[in-house]
Amino acid sequence: MDPWLECMDFGVAMTKEAGKMIRDALQREISVREKSSPVDLVTETDQKVEELIISSIREKFPTHSFIGEESVAAGAPSALTDGPTWIIDPIDGTTNFVHRFPFISVSIGFTVNRQIEFGIVFSCLENKMYTARRGRGAFCNGAPITVSGQQDITKSLILTEMGFKKDSEHFRAMMANMESILSIPVHGIRAPGSAAVNMCLVACGAADAYYHIGIHCWDMAGGAAILTEAGGVVMDITGGPFDLMSRRLIAASSQGIAESIAKKIQPFCCGRDDTE
Ligand code: IPD
Repeated sequence: MDPWLECMDFGVAMTKEAGKMIRDALQREISVREKSSPVDLVTETDQKVEELIISSIREKFPTHSFIGEESVAAGAPSALTDGPTWIIDPIDGTTNFVHRFPFISVSIGFTVNRQIEFGIVFSCLENKMYTARRGRGAFCNGAPITVSGQQDITKSLILTEMGFKKDSEHFRAMMANMESILSIPVHGIRAPGSAAVNMCLVACGAADAYYHIGIHCWDMAGGAAILTEAGGVVMDITGGPFDLMSRRLIAASSQGIAESIAKKIQPFCCGRDDTE
């Protein structure tokens, strides 16, 4: 008997509800507020979706813990403990949502003893439900998915994002990393705007790697489970083991591509989710 499968099924049902709320909200006017900076946005829908997901799960599984993007923004702790923990991004791709750019996802990762047991990412405008239970493979709308398996970085399509701090020091470091990757050379770089979708694009072979410095555990947890179950690799940007609370990762279709990226990019300071 799999103890966490009931949780996963419930999570999938809640994620579908959340996706419906997001699609409905896109039909109305969107009111936007700034969080930590003019490029860190939040909407009423981010908050309502997170409230819906957390309150429903808490009612069913009252002893479980939560790390939710908007709860943390409102002052809740984001320390990862050994207990069953739901790590939730109600809208991954809030800037996309604000602009109605169509990569918008609901992302849930579930950890026990700090290990990710399952991941759910619903790309709700594409109507793609990605799921993965540890040891049981990765799926999109119920069909198995696998990474491209590409080993040659010069034949790869790489995803990244430009959304972290915009001060000149960080900006220069981020651009230098992009230049370093582009000059390998690779086939191209894309920035779809949702970390969770990016990892699912690598998981289903539409891209070969994604790297990012400055994201959060709620952006990574669901997608990391899906990518690894699809045969991909997650690692720290230095080439060491992936750390969910480190705010950085390389997610790749093969160990070789991940290592090639790690050799090319320079880390810069982005803090940690469990110490901020
Ligand atoms: C953001 C997206 C985006 C990334 C940002 C994240 P949010 O998540 O994943 O791709 O560039 O760093 O914060 O804020 O829309 O949940």
